[in-house]
Amino acid sequence: MKVLKVKNYDEMSEQACSILVDKINNMKHPVLGLATGSTPEGLYKKLIEQYNHGHVSFKDTTTFNLDEYIGLSKNHPNSYHYYMKNHLFQHIDINMDQVHVPKGDVIDIQNECVEYEKAILDHDKIDVQILGLGTNGHIGFNEPGTSFTSRTHMVDLAESTRQANARFFESLNDVPTKAITMGIEAIMESKEIIVLVSGDRKADALARFMNGDISEDFPASILQNHKQVTIIADEAALSKI
Ligand code: F6R
Repeated sequence: MKVLKVKNYDEMSEQACSILVDKINNMKHPVLGLATGSTPEGLYKKLIEQYNHGHVSFKDTTTFNLDEYIGLSKNHPNSYHYYMKNHLFQHIDINMDQVHVPKGDVIDIQNECVEYEKAILDHDKIDVQILGLGTNGHIGFNEPGTSFTSRTHMVDLAESTRQANARFFESLNDVPTKAITMGIEAIMESKEIIVLVSGDRKADALARFMNGDISEDFPASILQNHKQVTIIADEAALSKI
């Protein structure tokens, strides 16, 4: 795994943006895997700036998001559909038919998992997958204990994940208990993976991710086996290495 050490959140976002813009400009039909949460917000802001300056176009880009809460409609302000529209999609020239976010408000979640998986496989492979890191080592919403061979599936969110994400909701009670997530195997099939890590809140997790044993107890550890992983981490996140 390659590690890019940066000073702070802003530099992390800047580096990630410049790598991604370069990739998009050098691919005919880029397929990106996208994350939500606090970590990639700065990256999305910078991608919008680059688009506004005419330095990149997303019209031939396809995207697959990692996850979505079960029970929230697309228009719910805490849904990841809403997040992506708000933080990126509505500001750029992406074709919304080429955007994929798992649907968390359908009756048949199993069928949604199958359909989502099919859509990913139809696009061959994700060219560049952006990941954030959960404090418990989750990637996507693949919580500790998830099989490394998992495909798109429904998960029970760990209590620590619900607590960590409660900051986006009115109260902990409002945080959904279940989600749908891309599986670890599909993430590992991405041609290239960029992991963004910022802040001392992530320092323990980053240390275990980089130096710990590879174990399903700590999902991110499997990334040690991937040939093209770049970690972009700031000083605070790297403070326990
Ligand atoms: C979100 C996702 C999660 C987050 C992780 C870190 O789509 O896949 O794995 O990346 O929970 O969240 P933040 O960035 O809010 O610390």
